[in-house]
Amino acid sequence: MHKILVTGGAGYIGSHTVVELINSGFEVVIVDNFSNSSPNSIDGIEAITGVRPKLYEADCSDATAMERLFSAEGNILGVIHFAALKAVGESVDKPLDYYRNNLLSTINMMQMLKEFGGKYMVFSSSCTVYGQPDVLPVTESTPRKPAMSPYGNTKRVGEDIIQDTVNSEKGIYAISLRYFNPIGAHPSALIGELPLGKPDNLVPFITQTAAGIREKLQIFGGDYDSPDGTAIRDYFHVVDLARAHVLALKRMIDGKCKGNYEVFNVGAGRGITVLEIVKTFERVTGVKINYEIVGRRAGDIEKVWADTTLAEKELGWSTESTLEESLLTAWNWERRLRKI
Ligand code: UD1
Repeated sequence: MHKILVTGGAGYIGSHTVVELINSGFEVVIVDNFSNSSPNSIDGIEAITGVRPKLYEADCSDATAMERLFSAEGNILGVIHFAALKAVGESVDKPLDYYRNNLLSTINMMQMLKEFGGKYMVFSSSCTVYGQPDVLPVTESTPRKPAMSPYGNTKRVGEDIIQDTVNSEKGIYAISLRYFNPIGAHPSALIGELPLGKPDNLVPFITQTAAGIREKLQIFGGDYDSPDGTAIRDYFHVVDLARAHVLALKRMIDGKCKGNYEVFNVGAGRGITVLEIVKTFERVTGVKINYEIVGRRAGDIEKVWADTTLAEKELGWSTESTLEESLLTAWNWERRLRKI
């Protein structure tokens, strides 16, 4: 059985990916420092798959701890690297925390693959590397733009660190997946997104408003160039994103890569406004959302969505869940969590 280390495996995207990996026959080892996740997600993974993955509570930016982990495990074939800080606004206030955490952890993972004979890396990148693109939808060859935040810069530099490393180490392969906006939760409602404190992201804010935890959703910006004036993103289901990681890993294991380093956009390939998300949520759940349209959020771009042709062609990946299903699973998860 192939042993895969999943960093940040207790987190939102990480936990869903661990489930898909286990269901595809991989042996999974998780490392997580629980800085923005809960050990409860390990129970959720076990309840869904019947397998309790081995867990190390450690910080991936701690090189000594990573040496210890890799040497204890012995035969880690690949790493799926999620562990990172991800709040755009916070990164502006705490740039050193973001650079230290996100970049050191990435450097350590590449170093460990090299030292311990691991071969594969799947990196959690982001559409943030495109900034506000001049042409939509964005393809993988759309030029990256200077990052708008330290967070965004860690994704851009993270990609570069990985690409440069695999270029110099011919036995290591890497795929960066540039995610657009993953939403929703596992259909079992046993794992999902669990933001600590006030959510930054749209869908958890909507579900918390629907659950009565937040009084009102603020929609940031009503004067964008879009059909209803609110900003456009490419939302898609987190389980579909999780499957993309398994396909990326299998592509490398099966020797199907074109070169040592590849990049794929992962999204639904369709732009949706914030108001459309709110209206669709209301329609599928029957719950009204109290909202107001306020000024733009600093650092937000106007619109972005993906061209996913490459992922379809090369990975055999496309979304399986609809927007409606995605929003409904997000709500079912919130309801289970709040016992409503
Ligand atoms: C951003 C980054 C993404 C990063 C993610 C992590 C970009 C293009 N995307 O996603 O790379 O991984 O943060 O957190 O830089 N909104 C509201 N009210 C709210 C919350 C959000 O109106 O309370 C709006 C935002 O203004 C935006 C949309 O909803 O238009 C989506 O926001 P969010 O879920 O935070 O994701 P991004 O900002 O797209």
